[in-house]
Amino acid sequence: MEEKELVAVNEAEIAVHWQEEEYFHPSSQFVAQANMTDAAIFKRFSLDNFPECFKEYADLLSWKQYWHTTLDTSDAPCWKWFVGGKINASYNCIDRHLDAHKNKAAIIFVPEPEDEPHEVVSYQELYVRVNEFAALLQDFAGLKRGDRVTIHMPMATELPVTMLACARLGVIHSVVFGGFSGQACGERIADSGSRVLITMDGYYRSGKLLDHKEKADAAVAVALKEGQQVDKVLVWQRHRDKYASDTPMVDGRDYLVSDLLKQYRGRRIDAVALPAEDPLFLMYTSGTTGRPKGCQHSVGGYMAYVTGTSKYIQDIHPEDVYWCMADIGWITGHSYIVYGPLSLAATSVMYEGVPTYPDPGRAWRIAEQLDVNIFHTAPTTIRMLRKAGPDEPPKYNYHFKHMTTVGEPIEPEVWRWYHEVVGKGEAAIVDTWWQTETGGFLCSTIPALHPMKPGSAGPAVPGIHPIIYDEDGEVVPTGSGKAGNICIQNPWPGAFQTIWGDRQRYVDTYYARYCKDRNSKDWRDWPYFPGDAATEAKDGYFRILGRVDDVINVAGHRLGTKELESACLMVNEVAEASVVALADELRGRVPDIYVSLKPGHDTGRNIEEEVSKAIEIAIGKIARPRHVYIVPDMPKTRSGKIMRRVLSAISNGTDIGDVTTLANPEIVEDVRKLVQGE
Ligand code: WTA
Repeated sequence: MEEKELVAVNEAEIAVHWQEEEYFHPSSQFVAQANMTDAAIFKRFSLDNFPECFKEYADLLSWKQYWHTTLDTSDAPCWKWFVGGKINASYNCIDRHLDAHKNKAAIIFVPEPEDEPHEVVSYQELYVRVNEFAALLQDFAGLKRGDRVTIHMPMATELPVTMLACARLGVIHSVVFGGFSGQACGERIADSGSRVLITMDGYYRSGKLLDHKEKADAAVAVALKEGQQVDKVLVWQRHRDKYASDTPMVDGRDYLVSDLLKQYRGRRIDAVALPAEDPLFLMYTSGTTGRPKGCQHSVGGYMAYVTGTSKYIQDIHPEDVYWCMADIGWITGHSYIVYGPLSLAATSVMYEGVPTYPDPGRAWRIAEQLDVNIFHTAPTTIRMLRKAGPDEPPKYNYHFKHMTTVGEPIEPEVWRWYHEVVGKGEAAIVDTWWQTETGGFLCSTIPALHPMKPGSAGPAVPGIHPIIYDEDGEVVPTGSGKAGNICIQNPWPGAFQTIWGDRQRYVDTYYARYCKDRNSKDWRDWPYFPGDAATEAKDGYFRILGRVDDVINVAGHRLGTKELESACLMVNEVAEASVVALADELRGRVPDIYVSLKPGHDTGRNIEEEVSKAIEIAIGKIARPRHVYIVPDMPKTRSGKIMRRVLSAISNGTDIGDVTTLANPEIVEDVRKLVQGE
């Protein structure tokens, strides 16, 4: 029998040994001002009222034309929400706020160099900048509704300006995280079929001005190799008065936005009224195969869902100063820096650089200066801030009413530091579980309604109805505390519509596993499988245990083991490569790499460094492995499959288990000695 190769077996085993934690309660001041204090919301959003309940979220938006059908399931499992409706995301994030909030800060950009002033962009200024850039995209770049554009930019106000300008025209944006390599960007350009790339010359990171434009040249070359010609590269500038890159501009292809924009001064572009199910954006994410998946999100459903969850889970009011420290290049930034907060007319803070630069007090100084009252970050950052400056927060006079953690399970001990020290015991915390695919939160406490429990995401949010299945498709009893694969029984408006250009992969990856009838048009037959293991405690709180597929969550970033392995194979000498997740104190997980070499290739060259370099080129610095081990052979099943589970146990120093059924059991001890010593 083939042994199962789930990396997460280990993760789940570790996590299940966590004990039950005590509750913490939100303060009465928090409850008094909260947007949602009525427990009846769960009745309104019960399965009995599905799908009509989501009207409540859709009604938070301004529709150009109201919709007639809440949910159309005729093309199951590609769900269509708010059919018949016409809407524009840029209008909802900007224009509709002008009467009441024209002069209010929409975005405050904090540059990494501390002597540079903050850039405060009012709603009026955002309106002007988005309109002018939309005119440029339309007239100069020739873009129109349905075209795709790849945006490879660091944290800068020009990034949300660019996204909102695309949204205004109905152009589908695909933002690629700025830290990704040019090659990774090029593959995404090709997959999405973008003929325009929007980038920036440079940005600051840890005190250095990095050349970002150089990645554009690599991206365009890789895209071309994959059959996609990029006609225009639009380059924003980090400093208005100079070009901050050493990489030359290519004549007839590269254009400085600042030169072009002059022609569009004062131009206004009507926000195009788009059918609710038009795509708003693509966001690429890692999966089990080497090829990243372009998750396609709709304008109507997505905007309704991020606006509703920003209001009730993030508790955002227009008068709040909200700071999410994620990068806009990830889904958290799309939903909860740009679209959700701006739809609610909040002030959204963006920070350019490293949270501990130039010293571990930096984040708290920013919070003090701007009087941030809602703070949002990931466990990996919390662990880093705690390690670098465990006693820094009390030195600064800021007060958070609300804090979020997202992206990976948080250790209860780290949670308590976040609560006591960062939150000064005052802030309500939400631990939000969700994914790129889901558009918005799936599980979280509603901060004024539920107590918090360290390490648990909490119950499902309104309108989300989870169910846990075991490997055989049997339902794990509710509240049993037993681990299984968590699924969502019903569709919701924030869910992605499909994988760009690959509907079959969408169905196979997310629905095939627990689908009851492939021909059914009834949503009840199509539970959504996110790829995470979870337990549900008696109180209905879910604890997320980690991925059950070949995805590693490194510092909150999803990396596919197959993507890493194929990068290793770019080194000529490497015959086979296997990647496992090594538990790491700060980053949660980091990749550990095992390679075997082609016969006759001795290790004279520094293969370890070459493998690391290959990964950096293919994906980016975030994916650099902790170790690269050159092994004489991989432990394999009789059918020749590499036993990643064994390698993972060796890396993590956990029980290797029975290896006698392997084709080459003797190799296990050799590899173990190589890694762990005698
Ligand atoms: C993991 C990030 C535990 C999970 C928003 C999921 C979490 C993957 C949590 C998605 C959480 C996200 N607790 N695990 N609160 N939030 N995850 O697509 O494994 O970058 O499937 O979206 O992160 O990562 P993605």
